[in-house]
Amino acid sequence: MKETRVFAATRAGVHLGVMGMVLTGLLLASGCSNGEDTHPGQPVTHRKILFKQMVRTLEPMGLMVRGRRDYDPAQFIVLAGQLKDLSTKPWVYFTPDSNYPPTRAKPDVWDKPADFRAAQQKFINAANALVTAAQSRNMDTIKPSFAAVESSCKACHQQFRGIPH
Ligand code: HEC
Repeated sequence: MKETRVFAATRAGVHLGVMGMVLTGLLLASGCSNGEDTHPGQPVTHRKILFKQMVRTLEPMGLMVRGRRDYDPAQFIVLAGQLKDLSTKPWVYFTPDSNYPPTRAKPDVWDKPADFRAAQQKFINAANALVTAAQSRNMDTIKPSFAAVESSCKACHQQFRGIPH
């Protein structure tokens, strides 16, 4: 009896989780004005979700680096690892036919593919270096590595991300 109820509750939890993800996807896809991402494979939606996930790892690390949250070495290592895993993921979603609203990607993404790839690689390398720095559990070592990650995000945005459509 009891076990059945626990099982049912777990299943309800899973369903709520899935619904939450679906809702988030829909909200993200709706962008400024024009509803759901109807493009095959929804590349713009997918890459935006991945960039948002990056922010969710970067922000808590930033708070620790800036001393606005207690430095928790174990948590920092986990967050750096998550960012590293994410660092390789958005790029496959910049497909040739994926320059459509509400993207903020600039035409340079498609016009200067070698530069775009170089900016990705710079960031991927910086994210890898941050994992190594995090493992030192030494904030003096972490700080410059974290700054390098942030400036690799910023450098790419400057060249490849523009104002919203
Ligand atoms: C190699 C280039 C590149 C790097 C590196 C990069 N980004 Fe971006 N980012 C982009 C582009 C291009 C877009 C626009 C995507 C779109 O709108 O289709 C974007 C969009 C975003 C968005 C907006 C997502 C949305 O919902 O509109 C956020 C947030 C973001 N990036 C955060 C980051 C963070 C944080 C990092 C580093 C940890 C990072 N990005 C690294 C190119 C990059």
